Amino acid sequence: MIKKKVYVYKGFERFWHWMQALLIFFLAFTGFEIHGSYTFFGYRDAVRYHNIAAYMFIVLIAFAIFWHFTTGEWRQYYPSFKNIAAQLNYYIFGIFKNAPHPTKKTVLSKLNPLQKLTYFGLKVVIIPTLVITGLLYMFYRYSNSGIIESLDISSLKLIATIHVIAAFFMVSFVITHIYLITTGEKVTTNLKAMLTGYEELEEPEDEANITLNTKLD
Ligand code: HEM
Repeated sequence: MIKKKVYVYKGFERFWHWMQALLIFFLAFTGFEIHGSYTFFGYRDAVRYHNIAAYMFIVLIAFAIFWHFTTGEWRQYYPSFKNIAAQLNYYIFGIFKNAPHPTKKTVLSKLNPLQKLTYFGLKVVIIPTLVITGLLYMFYRYSNSGIIESLDISSLKLIATIHVIAAFFMVSFVITHIYLITTGEKVTTNLKAMLTGYEELEEPEDEANITLNTKLD
């Protein structure tokens, strides 16, 4: 086994990741102000900023979907239950005993099985739930608004509740994600990789040339 510096995260991928992180932080921050958890911008501005960030998030999602399908990168998120137990065991016990990572990261398989499953759930359940309930919330026809082209839904209560539950899942994901990114070889290894695109990965010598070619692409 030798270690090679490999180009793991492409330019758009890094832009999408950091832009998404920024927007989700901002949406959570303004969202929980709207929810009444604290006051910072003031209710009216919090709603205005939340709506603007939501539109930006939707545009980003559209570009990300296009990118994932045109590059084939969507396959990275195809969930698999293989090695899930080993990965869980590593995060609960192994990590505290300096045990080796149970799965190897490569350019063609960047995510461990637990990440695949989590990100898949995020992309297929949590984010669509936030977007759909958010849009329903946005276009809800308040009885005194007189906007006839808005959606006619009898009550906001269910929509708001689902939106907030999904928001809690999203915030829990972000907190766990921030902890887990510190569990690379060094505390900053994963962070640096997502900033620069490059990461030192272990690989068998006969695969070194394939990686070098990928890096030159
Ligand atoms: C495209 C995505 C999203 C859209 C379209 C959207 C839209 C909305 C709208 C329209 C509201 C109600 C504002 C009002 O009272 O008039 C709202 C509230 C809220 N949003 Fe979002 N949002 C999105 C994403 C998010 C995300 C990512 C989070 C958090 C991680 C979040 C958290 C919240 C919270 C906590 C509330 C307060 C709900 C309540 O207490 O009733 N939203 N959102």
